[in-house]
Amino acid sequence: MRIVVIGGSGHVGTYLIPRLVEGGHEVIVVSRRQRAPYRAHRAWDAVQQVTLDRQDAEARGEFGVRIRALEPDVVIDMICFTLASAQQLVETLRGQVQHFLHCGTIWVHGPSVEVPTTETQPRRPFGEYGIQKAAIEAYLLREARQNGFPATVLHPGHIVGPGWVPLNPAGHFNPAVFERLARGETLVLPNLGLETVHHVHADDVAQAFVQAIAHWSAAVGESFHVVSPAALTLRGYAEQMAAWFGQPARLEFLPWDAWRETVSDEEARATWDHIAHSPNCSIAKAQRLIAYQPRYTSLQAVQEAVTWLIERGEIQVGDR
Ligand SMILES: NC(=O)c1ccc[n+]([C@@H]2O[C@H](COP(=O)([O-])OP(=O)(O)OC[C@H]3O[C@@H](n4cnc5c(N)ncnc54)[C@H](OP(=O)(O)O)[C@@H]3O)[C@@H](O)[C@H]2O)c1
Repeated sequence: MRIVVIGGSGHVGTYLIPRLVEGGHEVIVVSRRQRAPYRAHRAWDAVQQVTLDRQDAEARGEFGVRIRALEPDVVIDMICFTLASAQQLVETLRGQVQHFLHCGTIWVHGPSVEVPTTETQPRRPFGEYGIQKAAIEAYLLREARQNGFPATVLHPGHIVGPGWVPLNPAGHFNPAVFERLARGETLVLPNLGLETVHHVHADDVAQAFVQAIAHWSAAVGESFHVVSPAALTLRGYAEQMAAWFGQPARLEFLPWDAWRETVSDEEARATWDHIAHSPNCSIAKAQRLIAYQPRYTSLQAVQEAVTWLIERGEIQVGDR
């Protein structure tokens, strides 16, 4: 099939594009061509690259038309963040594509009720990003179920892979947290360290897109969580990473208001966003309907990413 991937050179695209090419598809990647994939792969030689700035093209009302002109059978939209943006594309592609896949986020969920959270739980998003993504999800599923637009929504967790810094056991992105654990130094966590994070390897997200295309009839009109088999508590994550570095975990705990004073504003904002959501999502639906089988646990995914950081000297862990 002829597959257009909008925003296909990032975290997910790095793994998705080679999978699609190897699956025998004709692949077109749309981006501004400002960045390269995280990993080189021969498959990129077979990819048609189209340079297009979505924001600019949308402002001119041309984005959907430009995508339709590529004559795709399938469109994968990795970078849609507003309802208006989704609507502009759907209105132009209606009746023109066999499958439309949108990359959502587990942030469509607000605070959990029963965990693991299933896709059927009522949405209670907070924060502009999650609210917009939930609105896009509702719109696409309605268009699929009422109007026959062949949409599928995939909701990744915290995407991890070699090439960028993973979400750390303190719930933010400062890689120094991994260095502290590696050196056996004390790490202070907020509250009791029992709030949760839910990672997923970028290649498992890529797998889910491929599986959704392969299981078209089960995937259309549905949304799926795309996460590792199990979420981690911050405390458990810190303990396991310390053990991986060959160190005991020296953890201390502070109530949120005191803890936030120990980190930068940016770190506090990131941690708050993660612990206020404390995601713990079920993959049972994706396993059942599209045969999603993640290759990585959360820890395996993080450890691969941290190994990459160590090998490039981006974090200093001493002799392990
Ligand atoms: N990161 C996470 O942990 C996470 C978690 C859950 C869900 N998600 C979802 O994952 C999706 C993002 O996937 P990703 O992490 O693979 O993306 P990413 O790494 O941020 O890469 C973005 C891609 O889009 C292109 N791009 C960015 N702005 C563009 C524009 N204005 N016009 C055209 N192309 C543009 C980039 O290339 P150029 O810069 O060269 O244009 C690149 O190919 C989003 O829908 C997000 O909500 C992410």
